[in-house]
Amino acid sequence: MEIKKVGVVGCGTMGAGITQVVAMSGYQVVTSEINDELLKKGLNSINAQLTKSVEKGKLSQADKDATMARIKGTTTTKDFGDCDLVIEAAVELMDLKKKIFADLDKSAPKHAILASNTSSLSVMDMATATSRLDKMLGIHFFNPVPVMKLVELIRTIATSDETFETGRRFAESVGKTVVVAKDAPGFIVNRLMVPQVLHAVRLLESGIASREDIDTAIQLGLNHPMGPLTLIDLVGLDVVYFIAQAMYEETKDPQYIIPNLMHKMFAARWLGRKTGKGFYDYK
Ligand code: 3HC
Repeated sequence: MEIKKVGVVGCGTMGAGITQVVAMSGYQVVTSEINDELLKKGLNSINAQLTKSVEKGKLSQADKDATMARIKGTTTTKDFGDCDLVIEAAVELMDLKKKIFADLDKSAPKHAILASNTSSLSVMDMATATSRLDKMLGIHFFNPVPVMKLVELIRTIATSDETFETGRRFAESVGKTVVVAKDAPGFIVNRLMVPQVLHAVRLLESGIASREDIDTAIQLGLNHPMGPLTLIDLVGLDVVYFIAQAMYEETKDPQYIIPNLMHKMFAARWLGRKTGKGFYDYK
Protein backbone atom coordinates (compact mmCIF):
# COMPACT_ATOMS: atom_id res chain seq x y z
CA MET A 1 0.00 0.00 0.00
CA GLU A 2 1.22 3.52 -0.76
CA ILE A 3 1.08 6.11 2.02
CA LYS A 4 0.27 9.61 0.79
CA LYS A 5 -1.45 11.29 3.69
CA VAL A 6 -0.59 10.80 7.36
CA GLY A 7 -2.57 11.70 10.47
CA VAL A 8 -0.91 12.42 13.82
CA VAL A 9 -3.00 12.43 17.00
CA GLY A 10 -1.49 14.76 19.58
CA CYS A 11 0.77 17.73 18.88
CA GLY A 12 2.79 17.72 22.10
CA THR A 13 6.56 17.15 22.09
CA MET A 14 6.42 13.80 20.27
CA GLY A 15 3.41 14.54 18.04
CA ALA A 16 4.91 17.85 16.90
CA GLY A 17 8.26 16.19 16.19
CA ILE A 18 6.60 13.39 14.21
CA THR A 19 4.46 15.90 12.29
CA GLN A 20 7.55 17.93 11.42
CA VAL A 21 9.62 14.99 10.22
CA VAL A 22 6.76 13.47 8.20
CA ALA A 23 5.89 16.80 6.53
CA MET A 24 9.57 17.46 5.78
CA SER A 25 9.68 14.09 4.02
CA GLY A 26 6.99 15.25 1.56
CA TYR A 27 3.82 13.71 3.04
CA GLN A 28 0.60 15.64 3.60
CA VAL A 29 -0.04 15.62 7.37
CA VAL A 30 -3.15 16.20 9.45
CA THR A 31 -2.26 16.78 13.08
CA SER A 32 -4.81 16.97 15.87
CA GLU A 33 -5.00 18.33 19.38
CA ILE A 34 -7.79 18.40 21.94
CA ASN A 35 -8.26 22.18 21.73
CA ASP A 36 -7.19 25.22 19.69
CA GLU A 37 -4.74 26.45 22.31
CA LEU A 38 -2.70 23.21 22.38
CA LEU A 39 -2.89 22.92 18.60
CA LYS A 40 -1.53 26.44 18.18
CA LYS A 41 1.25 25.71 20.69
CA GLY A 42 2.25 22.53 18.82
CA LEU A 43 2.20 24.15 15.37
CA ASN A 44 4.15 27.15 16.70
CA SER A 45 6.83 24.81 18.06
CA ILE A 46 7.19 23.19 14.62
CA ASN A 47 7.39 26.60 13.00
CA ALA A 48 10.05 27.69 15.51
CA GLN A 49 12.16 24.56 14.89
CA LEU A 50 12.01 25.06 11.14
CA THR A 51 12.86 28.77 11.51
CA LYS A 52 15.99 27.78 13.48
CA SER A 53 17.01 25.44 10.66
CA VAL A 54 16.54 28.26 8.12
CA GLU A 55 18.62 30.62 10.29
CA LYS A 56 21.40 28.01 10.49
CA GLY A 57 21.32 27.69 6.69
CA LYS A 58 20.26 24.01 6.91
CA LEU A 59 16.86 24.55 5.28
CA SER A 60 15.75 27.01 2.61
CA GLN A 61 12.88 29.40 3.33
CA ALA A 62 11.02 27.82 0.38
CA ASP A 63 11.38 24.32 1.86
CA LYS A 64 10.25 25.57 5.25
CA ASP A 65 7.16 27.21 3.69
CA ALA A 66 6.40 24.07 1.67
CA THR A 67 6.71 21.92 4.83
CA MET A 68 4.36 24.14 6.83
CA ALA A 69 1.90 24.18 3.90
CA ARG A 70 1.73 20.37 3.98
CA ILE A 71 0.56 20.45 7.63
CA LYS A 72 -3.10 20.88 8.46
CA GLY A 73 -4.06 21.32 12.11
CA THR A 74 -7.40 20.11 13.44
CA THR A 75 -9.32 19.49 16.66
CA THR A 76 -11.64 16.88 15.16
CA THR A 77 -11.00 13.26 14.17
CA LYS A 78 -13.27 13.76 11.13
CA ASP A 79 -10.28 15.26 9.32
CA PHE A 80 -8.54 11.86 9.30
CA GLY A 81 -11.10 10.68 6.72
CA ASP A 82 -8.58 10.52 3.85
CA CYS A 83 -5.43 9.44 5.71
CA ASP A 84 -3.62 6.24 4.76
CA LEU A 85 -1.80 6.03 8.10
CA VAL A 86 -2.65 7.60 11.46
CA ILE A 87 -0.05 7.70 14.24
CA GLU A 88 -1.30 8.21 17.78
CA ALA A 89 1.06 10.20 20.03
CA ALA A 90 -1.05 10.90 23.11
CA VAL A 91 -0.22 10.49 26.81
CA GLU A 92 0.72 6.97 28.03
CA LEU A 93 -2.69 6.08 29.44
CA MET A 94 -4.31 2.92 28.07
CA ASP A 95 -7.93 4.04 28.52
CA LEU A 96 -7.26 7.26 26.64
CA LYS A 97 -5.44 5.46 23.84
CA LYS A 98 -8.25 2.90 23.48
CA LYS A 99 -10.77 5.71 23.16
CA ILE A 100 -8.63 7.40 20.51
CA PHE A 101 -8.32 4.16 18.52
CA ALA A 102 -12.06 3.46 18.77
CA ASP A 103 -12.66 6.96 17.30
CA LEU A 104 -10.00 6.48 14.63
CA ASP A 105 -11.53 3.16 13.62
CA LYS A 106 -14.68 5.09 12.72
CA SER A 107 -13.09 8.17 11.15
CA ALA A 108 -10.11 6.73 9.21
CA PRO A 109 -10.75 4.95 5.90
CA LYS A 110 -11.09 1.15 6.02
CA HIS A 111 -7.73 0.66 4.26
CA ALA A 112 -5.82 2.92 6.70
CA ILE A 113 -3.11 1.62 9.00
CA LEU A 114 -3.38 2.73 12.63
CA ALA A 115 -0.18 3.06 14.62
CA SER A 116 0.75 4.00 18.16
CA ASN A 117 3.88 5.85 19.20
CA THR A 118 3.50 4.22 22.61
CA SER A 119 6.68 3.91 24.69
CA SER A 120 5.61 0.95 26.77
CA LEU A 121 1.96 -0.06 26.47
CA SER A 122 0.60 -3.10 24.67
CA VAL A 123 -0.26 -2.33 21.05
CA MET A 124 -2.50 -5.41 20.99
CA ASP A 125 -4.57 -4.05 23.89
CA MET A 126 -5.09 -0.82 21.95
CA ALA A 127 -5.93 -2.77 18.80
CA THR A 128 -8.84 -4.45 20.59
CA ALA A 129 -10.63 -1.07 20.51
CA THR A 130 -10.69 -1.32 16.69
CA SER A 131 -12.12 -3.66 14.08
CA ARG A 132 -8.77 -3.91 12.25
CA LEU A 133 -6.32 -5.91 14.36
CA ASP A 134 -4.29 -6.74 11.25
CA LYS A 135 -3.79 -3.04 10.44
CA MET A 136 -2.35 -2.01 13.84
CA LEU A 137 1.30 -1.70 14.77
CA GLY A 138 3.63 0.35 16.93
CA ILE A 139 5.85 3.02 15.36
CA HIS A 140 7.94 4.34 18.24
CA PHE A 141 9.97 7.51 17.64
CA PHE A 142 12.54 9.05 20.01
CA ASN A 143 12.87 12.52 21.45
CA PRO A 144 13.86 14.91 19.85
CA VAL A 145 12.22 13.27 16.84
CA PRO A 146 13.92 15.42 14.15
CA VAL A 147 17.35 14.46 15.52
CA MET A 148 17.03 10.88 16.74
CA LYS A 149 17.62 8.35 13.96
CA LEU A 150 15.81 5.37 15.46
CA VAL A 151 12.30 3.98 15.11
CA GLU A 152 11.19 0.84 16.93
CA LEU A 153 8.62 -1.05 14.90
CA ILE A 154 6.30 -3.12 17.06
CA ARG A 155 4.51 -6.08 15.61
CA THR A 156 1.61 -7.68 17.48
CA ILE A 157 0.56 -11.29 16.94
CA ALA A 158 -2.20 -9.95 14.65
CA THR A 159 -0.25 -7.40 12.56
CA SER A 160 -0.33 -8.49 8.91
CA ASP A 161 2.82 -8.79 6.81
CA GLU A 162 1.52 -6.03 4.53
CA THR A 163 0.91 -3.62 7.44
CA PHE A 164 4.32 -4.38 8.89
CA GLU A 165 6.21 -3.92 5.61
CA THR A 166 4.29 -0.70 4.84
CA GLY A 167 5.21 0.56 8.32
CA ARG A 168 8.86 -0.29 7.73
CA ARG A 169 8.93 1.46 4.33
CA PHE A 170 7.23 4.49 5.84
CA ALA A 171 9.70 4.78 8.78
CA GLU A 172 12.63 4.46 6.37
CA SER A 173 11.09 7.03 4.04
CA VAL A 174 11.16 9.61 6.85
CA GLY A 175 14.87 8.97 7.32
CA LYS A 176 14.82 6.58 10.28
CA THR A 177 16.65 3.32 10.96
CA VAL A 178 14.23 0.58 11.97
CA VAL A 179 14.65 -2.00 14.71
CA VAL A 180 11.94 -4.57 15.33
CA ALA A 181 10.54 -5.66 18.67
CA LYS A 182 7.69 -7.81 19.88
CA ASP A 183 4.75 -6.23 21.67
CA ALA A 184 6.41 -6.51 25.10
CA PRO A 185 6.60 -3.75 27.77
CA GLY A 186 9.20 -1.09 26.90
CA PHE A 187 10.24 -2.87 23.69
CA ILE A 188 14.05 -2.54 23.40
CA VAL A 189 15.13 1.00 24.26
CA ASN A 190 12.88 1.79 27.23
CA ARG A 191 13.41 -1.69 28.66
CA LEU A 192 17.09 -0.79 28.94
CA MET A 193 16.87 2.98 29.48
CA VAL A 194 14.13 3.24 32.12
CA PRO A 195 15.86 1.08 34.80
CA GLN A 196 19.02 3.12 34.29
CA VAL A 197 17.40 6.53 34.74
CA LEU A 198 15.37 5.30 37.73
CA HIS A 199 18.58 4.01 39.33
CA ALA A 200 20.13 7.43 38.76
CA VAL A 201 17.25 9.02 40.70
CA ARG A 202 17.76 6.48 43.52
CA LEU A 203 21.47 7.35 43.59
CA LEU A 204 20.60 11.03 43.97
CA GLU A 205 17.92 10.27 46.55
CA SER A 206 20.30 8.22 48.69
CA GLY A 207 22.90 11.01 48.64
CA ILE A 208 25.59 8.91 46.95
CA ALA A 209 26.40 11.69 44.48
CA SER A 210 25.16 15.12 43.35
CA ARG A 211 22.93 15.53 40.31
CA GLU A 212 25.81 17.12 38.39
CA ASP A 213 28.24 14.31 39.26
CA ILE A 214 25.74 11.58 38.33
CA ASP A 215 25.18 13.23 34.96
CA THR A 216 28.87 13.96 34.35
CA ALA A 217 29.78 10.38 35.29
CA ILE A 218 27.47 8.90 32.66
CA GLN A 219 28.28 11.55 30.06
CA LEU A 220 32.05 11.24 30.34
CA GLY A 221 32.34 7.72 31.74
CA LEU A 222 30.01 6.07 29.25
CA ASN A 223 30.12 8.71 26.50
CA HIS A 224 26.34 9.29 26.53
CA PRO A 225 25.29 12.62 24.96
CA MET A 226 23.63 13.64 28.22
CA GLY A 227 23.39 12.30 31.76
CA PRO A 228 20.30 10.40 33.00
CA LEU A 229 18.83 13.24 35.09
CA THR A 230 19.21 15.71 32.22
CA LEU A 231 17.63 13.08 29.98
CA ILE A 232 14.57 12.77 32.27
CA ASP A 233 14.25 16.57 32.15
CA LEU A 234 14.39 16.44 28.34
CA VAL A 235 11.91 13.59 27.88
CA GLY A 236 9.61 14.86 30.67
CA LEU A 237 9.48 13.40 34.18
CA ASP A 238 5.77 12.66 33.67
CA VAL A 239 6.56 10.66 30.53
CA VAL A 240 9.17 8.54 32.35
CA TYR A 241 6.75 8.24 35.30
CA PHE A 242 3.92 6.84 33.16
CA ILE A 243 6.27 4.48 31.32
CA ALA A 244 7.76 3.13 34.57
CA GLN A 245 4.28 2.74 36.07
CA ALA A 246 3.03 0.82 33.04
CA MET A 247 6.13 -1.38 32.92
CA TYR A 248 5.88 -2.20 36.61
CA GLU A 249 2.18 -3.04 36.32
CA GLU A 250 2.91 -5.34 33.41
CA THR A 251 6.08 -7.05 34.67
CA LYS A 252 6.04 -6.58 38.49
CA ASP A 253 9.81 -6.25 38.11
CA PRO A 254 11.07 -4.12 41.06
CA GLN A 255 13.58 -2.29 38.88
CA TYR A 256 10.62 -0.32 37.46
CA ILE A 257 9.37 0.86 40.89
CA ILE A 258 9.18 4.66 40.83
CA PRO A 259 11.53 6.22 43.42
CA ASN A 260 9.93 8.44 46.11
CA LEU A 261 11.69 11.55 44.85
CA MET A 262 10.01 11.11 41.46
CA HIS A 263 6.58 10.81 43.07
CA LYS A 264 7.21 14.11 44.85
CA MET A 265 8.53 15.85 41.74
CA PHE A 266 5.56 14.55 39.74
CA ALA A 267 3.14 15.98 42.34
CA ALA A 268 4.98 19.32 42.31
CA ARG A 269 4.90 19.35 38.47
CA TRP A 270 8.69 19.53 38.32
CA LEU A 271 8.49 17.79 34.99
CA GLY A 272 11.71 19.10 33.40
CA ARG A 273 12.23 21.52 30.55
CA LYS A 274 8.56 21.82 29.68
CA THR A 275 7.57 23.21 33.10
CA GLY A 276 10.80 25.17 33.62
CA LYS A 277 11.97 22.97 36.50
CA GLY A 278 12.98 19.37 36.92
CA PHE A 279 16.25 18.08 38.32
CA TYR A 280 17.63 21.39 36.98
CA ASP A 281 16.17 24.88 36.50
CA TYR A 282 15.32 26.06 32.99
CA LYS A 283 13.74 29.44 33.70
N1 3HC B 1 14.19 19.46 18.43
C1 3HC B 1 14.80 19.51 17.24
N2 3HC B 1 16.14 19.60 17.11
C2 3HC B 1 16.86 19.65 18.22
C3 3HC B 1 16.30 19.60 19.50
C4 3HC B 1 14.89 19.52 19.58
N3 3HC B 1 14.26 19.45 20.74
N4 3HC B 1 17.29 19.66 20.43
C5 3HC B 1 18.44 19.75 19.73
N5 3HC B 1 18.18 19.73 18.42
C6 3HC B 1 19.16 19.78 17.33
C7 3HC B 1 19.89 21.10 17.35
O1 3HC B 1 19.18 22.09 16.64
C8 3HC B 1 21.19 20.74 16.67
O2 3HC B 1 20.98 20.69 15.28
P1 3HC B 1 22.15 21.06 14.24
O3 3HC B 1 23.24 20.05 14.45
O4 3HC B 1 21.46 20.96 12.92
O5 3HC B 1 22.59 22.45 14.59
C9 3HC B 1 21.44 19.28 17.13
O6 3HC B 1 20.15 18.79 17.56
C10 3HC B 1 22.41 19.21 18.28
O7 3HC B 1 21.89 20.04 19.33
P2 3HC B 1 22.79 20.88 20.31
O8 3HC B 1 24.08 21.25 19.63
O9 3HC B 1 21.95 22.00 20.87
O10 3HC B 1 23.03 19.97 21.57
P3 3HC B 1 23.62 18.52 21.66
O11 3HC B 1 24.72 18.29 20.71
O12 3HC B 1 23.87 18.35 23.11
O13 3HC B 1 22.42 17.57 21.24
C11 3HC B 1 20.59 16.24 21.84
C12 3HC B 1 21.19 17.63 21.87
C13 3HC B 1 20.36 15.82 20.39
C14 3HC B 1 19.28 16.31 22.58
C15 3HC B 1 21.61 15.24 22.50
O14 3HC B 1 21.99 15.73 23.75
C16 3HC B 1 21.07 13.85 22.65
O15 3HC B 1 21.07 13.06 21.73
N6 3HC B 1 20.60 13.52 23.87
C17 3HC B 1 20.03 12.21 24.17
C18 3HC B 1 18.62 12.15 23.66
C19 3HC B 1 18.01 10.81 23.91
O16 3HC B 1 18.58 9.91 24.49
N7 3HC B 1 16.78 10.68 23.47
C20 3HC B 1 16.00 9.48 23.69
C21 3HC B 1 15.14 9.67 24.84
S1 3HC B 1 14.20 8.23 25.20
C22 3HC B 1 12.85 8.39 24.23
O17 3HC B 1 12.65 9.34 23.52
C23 3HC B 1 11.89 7.25 24.31
C24 3HC B 1 10.54 7.71 24.73
O18 3HC B 1 9.69 6.60 24.70
C25 3HC B 1 10.54 8.30 26.10
